[in-house]
Amino acid sequence: MKILGIESSCDECAAAVVEDGRYILSNVVATQIPFHAIYNGVVPEIASRKHTEWIYAVVKESLDKAGLSPRGIDGVAATARPGLLGSLLVGLSFAKAFAWARRLPFIAVDHMLAHLYASQLAAEDPASRIPEGGLPPYPFLGLLVSGGHSIICRVDDFDDISVLGATIDDAVGEAFDKVSKHYGFGYPGGAVIDRLAETGNPDAFRFPLPNLYKGDHPYDFSYSGLKTAVINQLEQFRVKKTNAAPDAESVDAKADVESADAADIAASFQKTAVEILLRSLVRAAEDTGLRTVVAGGGVAANSRLRARLAEQRRLRCIFPPPELCGDNGAMIAGIGYRYLSRGDRSPLTIGASARVDGFKRKYP
Ligand code: KG4
Ligand code: ZN
Repeated sequence: MKILGIESSCDECAAAVVEDGRYILSNVVATQIPFHAIYNGVVPEIASRKHTEWIYAVVKESLDKAGLSPRGIDGVAATARPGLLGSLLVGLSFAKAFAWARRLPFIAVDHMLAHLYASQLAAEDPASRIPEGGLPPYPFLGLLVSGGHSIICRVDDFDDISVLGATIDDAVGEAFDKVSKHYGFGYPGGAVIDRLAETGNPDAFRFPLPNLYKGDHPYDFSYSGLKTAVINQLEQFRVKKTNAAPDAESVDAKADVESADAADIAASFQKTAVEILLRSLVRAAEDTGLRTVVAGGGVAANSRLRARLAEQRRLRCIFPPPELCGDNGAMIAGIGYRYLSRGDRSPLTIGASARVDGFKRKYP
């Protein structure tokens, strides 16, 4: 069964064809990053317009690359939530029209559940294929880390998760993006900081870990304190620079930070950001007895997060290949297949929603 998956929740205009929920026949991602980078963040109005301009070409390319005409598609899936409303509506409406015109079954899916599903896709790179026998049986722990959400959950099925803990303020990806923005490192911040951190000393700066553990919500975490502490450090660099050259005019944030300091800041921030997640995750694994962790979302591409989780001897950690961590249509087509093959259908009247829906929040 070949499913067309369409994703347009944020700044990637993406479409893919996946066979039987597992084999990627094509995966086209047209990124809008250059259009938003000048603003250091996604501009919703620009995002919707670009999706509208690009969606036809992106879907056409995904069919061409899969060697299929629209007749070769057996079902259509699209992201309906969460995300930027105007952006979501473009992909969702295009997918509905495609399904209606071809009289195909249609399913609207949740973007975060799709991120969790990404590990189940067989990547084109054989080195990153999931182990023979596929994913371990349910239940397992899910670690969903993106630009808008950060969630630790118990996963009982591809469509059944219970939130055990979440960020109480900023998402982890958002913290990467904000730090990068203030330091002038570039947009989006995650990949830039990951790369900068390679040459930095993660122990150069000590940033505090938030102390949220009050007993009630033991797996919740927070990023706003870390973000603020790292951004405040910028002032110290400015003072240092002014003392060294009192007459020099400060041009921008980047000019205030020596490159060695930039690498050290990136590495120290990244280290702390990863430890915050790890602390809650390990605690959740110990308390629930669930020893397998499946990660997903843009931040799951982070090299330090992947390395630190791989070091945890008592955990088995499964990551999507890096190219399937960020937003893509393959994860939408993949999870879409699971719903459609079970007989689930969405009405063509279904709307989009900016928020996550139906995630049960459970505190043990
Ligand atoms: O899942 P995603 O592509 O979009 C959302 O659903 O939000 O995640 C985007 C987020 C951004 O905040 C980006 O900075 C972050 O993922 N990200 C990373 C890395 N690559 C992308 N964060 C840390 N390290 C990375 N290598
Ligand atoms: Zn995403």
